[in-house]
Amino acid sequence: MDILTGVILVIHMIGWAIVLGGALTTMREPRIAKGVTHGAVTALVAGILLVGLAEMGDGDVNNVKIAVKLVVALVITAMAIYGSKNQDKVTTGYLGGLAGLTVLNIAVAVLWR
Ligand code: HEM
Repeated sequence: MDILTGVILVIHMIGWAIVLGGALTTMREPRIAKGVTHGAVTALVAGILLVGLAEMGDGDVNNVKIAVKLVVALVITAMAIYGSKNQDKVTTGYLGGLAGLTVLNIAVAVLWR
């Protein structure tokens, strides 16, 4: 793995960690913390860059896996943006959905080989 890919992968994972941590820590007083939306958008962009770098290099990309991750990530990002603009709609269940989808994508990323 070259250094650029490594740095972007670190950013990718920190971004999703912010989304997961942010969703879990606000469960008692449900709201979308500011960092959650930033984390989701940053991680999404980093993920797309990772695919581009893999396509440019000799890394082979599992397109079905990436498509599944992309759809789930787009739902997460949309939920974060919608929730941050409509904080009154954010419930514990909403945050649970956000956290659950993030965990699902972590499992897809790591277990789908
Ligand atoms: C909630 C959404 C997501 C989570 C939690 C997530 C999590 C992760 C994790 C934990 C890894 C490291 C896995 C490993 O290297 O063993 C990873 C790698 C990667 N992710 Fe994501 N990711 C998400 C969304 C995306 C999206 C939307 C894309 C691209 C459109 C993407 C593209 C990649 C790529 C290319 C890698 C490099 C390794 C591989 O091919 O699996 N990810 N992701």
